[in-house]
Amino acid sequence: MGGARKLTVDLGERSYPIYIGEGLLDEAGVRLAEHGISKKSPLLIVTDNRVAERHLGRLEALLRESGFTVASAVIPSGEASKSLSRLEELVGAALERGLDRKSAVVALGGGVVGDLAGFVAASYMRGIKFVQIPTTILAHDSSVGGKVAVNHPLAKNIIGAFHQPELVLYDLDTLQTLPEREVKAGLSEVVKHGLIWDAEFVAWCDANAEKLLALDPEALGYALYKGCSVKAAVVSKDERENDLRAILNLGHTIGHALEAVAGYGELLHGEAIAIGMVGAARLAVRLGAPEDVYRVTKRVLARVGLPVRLPSHLDTDAIMSAMMHDKKFQEGAITFIVPVAVGKVEINKSVSTALIREIVEELKQEAVEA
Ligand SMILES: NC(=O)c1ccc[n+]([C@@H]2O[C@H](COP(=O)([O-])OP(=O)(O)OC[C@H]3O[C@@H](n4cnc5c(N)ncnc54)[C@H](O)[C@@H]3O)[C@@H](O)[C@H]2O)c1
Ligand SMILES: [Zn+2]
Repeated sequence: MGGARKLTVDLGERSYPIYIGEGLLDEAGVRLAEHGISKKSPLLIVTDNRVAERHLGRLEALLRESGFTVASAVIPSGEASKSLSRLEELVGAALERGLDRKSAVVALGGGVVGDLAGFVAASYMRGIKFVQIPTTILAHDSSVGGKVAVNHPLAKNIIGAFHQPELVLYDLDTLQTLPEREVKAGLSEVVKHGLIWDAEFVAWCDANAEKLLALDPEALGYALYKGCSVKAAVVSKDERENDLRAILNLGHTIGHALEAVAGYGELLHGEAIAIGMVGAARLAVRLGAPEDVYRVTKRVLARVGLPVRLPSHLDTDAIMSAMMHDKKFQEGAITFIVPVAVGKVEINKSVSTALIREIVEELKQEAVEA
């Protein structure tokens, strides 16, 4: 077992650690106890059917051995599970299993499970403890920072809360069972954390793309550590997205609209935001940033196997209208995160919708290297 890395999300009383390393599931019982998860009240593991097949039995057994009372709820895998009806079902499961105010919800899975289970924890009895055990690469992003939510048919993540976990336990071994497409999609947010904060890390991703795609534990551990560090640093400075935290939305203005228009499913979240980040880079150059920003952004995303062209069958009007429904549309303006250099972005609230429309059209023509 390689040495685990640890970092802290610094939020005063609500600070919590993130552990990243191989074999960490084996330590789950000790870690949960150490971080105040009760053995007297039952806990509820929430996971999806794919993750359940591979990792649930082991986690249940390990936690029971450590003296926890464990119940589990398995939801169908996929974005459609981030719904109010699943929330209601899980609250039902929590009640049936006797969860009380000292109980905890443990999210074992990717961002879908984390967001949904987190919202269950945030709302059940007005809020109980919550643990994140992320099993996707993308979830290095979603498991840190405390944003939890479900979708409404008209808009993504529109019903939610801020609810920080007690700890994040990231066992790299669980990632070995990820499908290749999910690996690539997850790397999208890893690259994003470089693009907003750390040019050196962007270059490192470029140079280590093959190792990352092969799930090399050393490379993966480092990349997730760097990604989580950026997220933790930003969230520590602005937990509730009054200003700085918005930079984490690089690529998401266009990306969320694409997900909504394509129907959750055709494009994975990471794929949609990869296209969105190329759009943001194009926009940046139009607004005066060096050409490099566009070239490097597109190159590193392509290197980790992500799409950079917007599927041409998606209707531009529908994409524009989806952007207006987004949380990033406020007081009549779209908030756009625009790179000013590689590793540095700014928040721009005065980008005209006409210009965004042009960028969307250009993204449909984006050249893809053979
Ligand atoms: N809360 C936040 O701050 C935040 C940030 C970014 C993204 N998100 C949300 O995260 C979600 C996307 O997360 P995701 O990409 O992890 O999706 P996901 O949870 O749907 O997981 C992707 C797929 O991989 C499967 N899977 C998960 N772990 C696996 C494993 N170890 N082995 C094999 N298969 C496995 C899942 O069953 C699913 O089919 C979106 O809903 C997005 O809105 C939230
Ligand atoms: Zn995202």
